[in-house]
Amino acid sequence: MKTVVEPTGVPNERAQAISRALTLLRAGEVVALPTETVYGLAADALSAEAVVKIFETKERPRFDPLIVHLPNPAWLPRVATASSLAEKLMEKFWPGPLTILLPKTSLIPDIVTAGLPTVALRMSAHPVFSAVVRELDRPLAAPSANRFGRISPTAAAHVLEELDGRIPLIVDGGPTEHGLESTIVAVEEDCLTILREGPITREELAVFGTVRTGKVTTLPQAPGQLPSHYAPRTPLLIVDDLASVIVPLGMRYGALAWSAAAVPPFFAESRRLSDKDDLREAATNLFRELRALDAAGLDVIVAEATPETGLGAAIMDRLRRASQR
Ligand code: TXA
Ligand code: MG
Repeated sequence: MKTVVEPTGVPNERAQAISRALTLLRAGEVVALPTETVYGLAADALSAEAVVKIFETKERPRFDPLIVHLPNPAWLPRVATASSLAEKLMEKFWPGPLTILLPKTSLIPDIVTAGLPTVALRMSAHPVFSAVVRELDRPLAAPSANRFGRISPTAAAHVLEELDGRIPLIVDGGPTEHGLESTIVAVEEDCLTILREGPITREELAVFGTVRTGKVTTLPQAPGQLPSHYAPRTPLLIVDDLASVIVPLGMRYGALAWSAAAVPPFFAESRRLSDKDDLREAATNLFRELRALDAAGLDVIVAEATPETGLGAAIMDRLRRASQR
């Protein structure tokens, strides 16, 4: 299959890209679309046959459920039951990078949720993604547009690296704003459980209730929270201080720097996540720089730990998963 990349830089390009995406989605095909977090591999969430193609294209195990992206809030009662706390979160953070787990209705095919009684819901704020899903007027299932276990794509070129020849269309919306996947939260009464750290921080969620991490008590566990994920092919090590690293003779180590401290000269390559100690900027750049270092023929990537406050929690979560083999 030939993979076409459609630009969206000027209005008529954008209109053509959107109309092409709609034609393919209506025909039950998968299409890569930009969101404000990472690029998604989208298909009609209400068609089990279309959703199967997502799993096949990504080589994703069927036990790993997908996020469903709604065209507008009016769709909510058709696909899930929301508590009043869930509705408050939607009011505050939608459209945007927050995914909420809710009990699903029978309209959502079981393959989407891997048989779970809950569905992960989000509404994207990206102008291209939201134009497509609104015009389609059906929810879109969309995981990150990478092969399973690999680094999520934050640019159209990354999607092409991952899925060239496997999908008919990539809509190029430029680099993504947040650079990390959405925060995933489960809502139980007045308690919020973060299942995946992301652009909406624990501090922002704490305004709405008690925030816990990891285990949901009354809901089934997320089968997709696998420890080894976002994996570069190059082994990755996390350190507090890049200067403390000892590079074995003849080995090429690359540094992924966070702080303003100079990178020691014994690193063969180096990349910096932010020039101004800004965690938001660092999050946006993380996957792009990881991908670049992964392509640099290094023996090891050494990542400097970031603080764990705010966006730092999500960055460290991704680095830890990338360091698991
Ligand atoms: O920012 C994002 O969330 C991107 C964009 C494209 O929207 N999507 C994304 O999807 O990151 P994906 O499939 O790469 O990650 C979704 C995660 C998986 O770890 C999956 O296991 C979990 O969400 N998930 C989905 N439905 C779930 C459910 N019903 N219960 C528990 N976890 C669920
Ligand atoms: Mg993913």
